Amino acid sequence: VAVVISLANQKGGVAKTTTCANLGAGLGLRGVRTLLVDFDPQASLSHFLGIPQNDPAMPTISDLLSGQRPADEIIQTTPFQNLSILPAGRELEGADNMMRKDPANMFRFLQHRVDALRDRYDAILIDTLPSFSLLFANSLAACDYVIIPAKLDFLSMQGVGALLEKVREVHQRIRPIKGVGIVGTFFRKGVRECENCLQELRGAGVGEVFDAVINLNSRVAESPGHTKPIQYYDRSSQGSQDYEKLTQEVIEACQINQGAAVASAS
Ligand SMILES: Nc1ncnc2c1ncn2[C@@H]1O[C@H](COP(=O)(O)OP(=O)(O)OP(=O)(O)O)[C@@H](O)[C@H]1O
Ligand SMILES: [Mg+2]
Repeated sequence: VAVVISLANQKGGVAKTTTCANLGAGLGLRGVRTLLVDFDPQASLSHFLGIPQNDPAMPTISDLLSGQRPADEIIQTTPFQNLSILPAGRELEGADNMMRKDPANMFRFLQHRVDALRDRYDAILIDTLPSFSLLFANSLAACDYVIIPAKLDFLSMQGVGALLEKVREVHQRIRPIKGVGIVGTFFRKGVRECENCLQELRGAGVGEVFDAVINLNSRVAESPGHTKPIQYYDRSSQGSQDYEKLTQEVIEACQINQGAAVASAS
């Protein structure tokens, strides 16, 4: 049964999508049957994994939310091991209007759809849009764990407290969340601002901070342009090593089942 993890931060450009794709690939490479859910109307995650753009006929997560199509007709496999994706498109922007028409369920649209997929995967990762919105609340209400990519600069870090408050609200009012983990991103070794931000996160006692830190790395920045997760684009890069370390920690922290392939080999 799948563990569901949302990659969330209301700040833009902190590496939510990058972490979703690369963590997903890392899990898949370890035998974890992984579904990526693109829950951002920008559809960056879908673009990252090479889902064709500008095809209005292609079914997306909006069709699942509205009940117009079953998940089977929307989920696409990828060229990457154990990695599938539920793509998004621009029309997801309108989903909150549809959700508001059903006030009793408006926070649980995604939760209900994702719960129905749990028995087919070991991990489901949700890439979230950068705003406190109804879609954002839906992505928190659908998950067991929240991973917060935190860009290690002063301004990006300012929102982390408010984000943790939102997580607490969802935890108390909608559905319990089992844990929150923070991962520092865009780290630059020897740059005092980065070191200070990381120290501040670790000292604040705001939540678990992963030992793994994602360094600023040009190969990580290049890989979406080649529609490949970093492990497939440049396995020897610092970025690949960073995401491998994060993957291992997430498997342990979230108790993700690694599946038969890996279990029998060990
Ligand atoms: N470790 C890294 N080193 C260098 N560039 C990176 C790294 N991680 C992410 N990037 C680049 O930074 C940009 C922002 O990353 P990404 O799109 O993952 O952020 P996001 O939080 O999902 O943004 P949004 O809030 O718009 O959804 C992208 O161009 C990405 O390729
Ligand atoms: Mg994104």
